[in-house]
Amino acid sequence: MTIVKAKDYTDLSRKAANIISAQIIMKPACVLGLATGSSPEGTYKQLIDWYQKGDLDFSQVTTVNLDEYRGLPPEHEQSYRYFMNKHLFDNVNIDKSRTFVPDGLADPVEGCKKYEEIIKSTGGIDLQLLGIGVNGHIGFNEPDVFFESETHCVDLTENTIEANRRFFNSKDEVPKQAYTVGLRTIMHAKRILVIASGENKADAVYNAVYGKITPEVPASILQLHNDVIIIADEAAAKKL
Ligand code: F6R
Repeated sequence: MTIVKAKDYTDLSRKAANIISAQIIMKPACVLGLATGSSPEGTYKQLIDWYQKGDLDFSQVTTVNLDEYRGLPPEHEQSYRYFMNKHLFDNVNIDKSRTFVPDGLADPVEGCKKYEEIIKSTGGIDLQLLGIGVNGHIGFNEPDVFFESETHCVDLTENTIEANRRFFNSKDEVPKQAYTVGLRTIMHAKRILVIASGENKADAVYNAVYGKITPEVPASILQLHNDVIIIADEAAAKKL
């Protein structure tokens, strides 16, 4: 694992965007695995900025997102498809038909199977961007998930529902289930880039890097991947 310490969120976002840019420059028709949430917002902003300056070209890029809330349609403001359109896709020259996000309205079995086939049909993820949950989840792979899982439907933990309620009017509105790419699929990505910001991520980052490899800390499986970069700002890297 390569650990990169960033000064703050801006520095972290810039460093992460640099790595993604390098990937796109080295292989314009690359496949990016993408995440939503607070962690990557700054990274996407930076990528948009470089695109607008003419330094980046997304025209051949394919993207596969990690997860989606079960039951939310793509036009719902809290759906991850909506997030991706707003924070990245609508602002760069990507071909939207090559941007994939699990369908929140799909049948749990058929929809997940189809999504896994889509990922395989892309030829594999070149660079997977990940945020990390305060409980060590990656994607929506909550603690105790099977390490070998592919795309599946999960019950969100109280902890995650609580962490995500800030985006909804009330806790009751937070969906209780989600579709997520599994750990097995994530581990197949050629390179993995984890970004973590803020003190509340310090334990999760420490456990992911130095803790026991256990399904109780899903991110700990990343210790077994041979090309992982973790960028953490000072607060998130506090315990390293
Ligand atoms: C989102 C995702 C989640 C988040 C994690 C951290 O697509 O996969 O694992 O990365 O919950 O969320 P933030 O960045 O909002 O702290």
